[in-house]
Amino acid sequence: MKRPTHIPVLHSDDGHSPVLSVLKPLPGERVLDVTLGLGSHAEAFLKAVGATGFLCGLDTDSDNLSIAKDRLKAYEKQIDLRHENFRSLREDSFPPFDIIFADLGLSSPHIDRPERGFSFRFDGPLDLRFDQTKGATAADFLHDAAEDDIADVLFRYGELRESRRLAKRLHDRSINDGIRTTFDLKKCIEIAAGYRAPKILPQVFQALRIHINGELGALEHLLIVAPLLLKTGGRFGVISYHSLEDRMVKQAFKQRAEPDRDPVRGGITKAAPFEILTKKPVKPSDEEVRANPRSRSAVFRAIRRI
Ligand SMILES: C[S@@+](CC[C@H](N)C(=O)[O-])C[C@H]1O[C@@H](n2cnc3c(N)ncnc32)[C@H](O)[C@@H]1O
Repeated sequence: MKRPTHIPVLHSDDGHSPVLSVLKPLPGERVLDVTLGLGSHAEAFLKAVGATGFLCGLDTDSDNLSIAKDRLKAYEKQIDLRHENFRSLREDSFPPFDIIFADLGLSSPHIDRPERGFSFRFDGPLDLRFDQTKGATAADFLHDAAEDDIADVLFRYGELRESRRLAKRLHDRSINDGIRTTFDLKKCIEIAAGYRAPKILPQVFQALRIHINGELGALEHLLIVAPLLLKTGGRFGVISYHSLEDRMVKQAFKQRAEPDRDPVRGGITKAAPFEILTKKPVKPSDEEVRANPRSRSAVFRAIRRI
């Protein structure tokens, strides 16, 4: 079988790499890639840190992890790749790193393989889990959840104004086990939303995916723990793909880069422990978006421990 591919975002092996330009990996450095995926960014980091460098990679998806393991075989003495969710990272999980990198969300195989249930373009089981070894699928959630809980998910994670009305439809259909596949869900939304369905469908799938994988909770945890795992001078970069994530990253980085101030006089009492490396968020060029439309919503931000 042909190995699935994933075009890395904000990095190309031909030398143009906003990710490497900002994070500046150096020979001998230690890197933690918390979203290994198929290992494209990881391979670029490994090339940059050279034979004396080290990379630890995590992925919650065991299929992607085994593809990355195979791809990075040549580096086996300098890598440690684990089937792990970054939600379980702790301050004392590892000795500190020079670089921590996260490229959030989906990889291409999630969307391209109907059996994963991430895409409404193909019919498949309505699964939507990154980690298929545990937790409820999206079909289970729709079947078991109360109507109000479905509405909350659609509103919070899909930013859908008509969340209550859609939730009622989904709930009524799914209690009769009527929504087990991506096309069952698609049909239900098409009936409920009519001509607006093409706009709403991606929001519904996004909302369910974020909920099923606990994505925002995991990101919140990462934004607290990753800075604690950095050496002095260490860099932490995150590529996010929607405004809910980017808002959290922007806010967390801003807080880290603020000095302590005297509450009365406003003067600085303690210098900021981090500096922001991306004064403006880094986005893909028009050329990159043309070549890889999946990169279009990417936003990259990074900080450095002072
Ligand atoms: C955009 S892809 C990463 C692509 C990767 N940078 C590359 O070059 O191939 C995101 C990956 O992160 C994984 N992932 C998502 N949430 C995760 C989490 N909380 N912990 C660990 N891995 C996660 C997904 O399974 C997916 O493989």
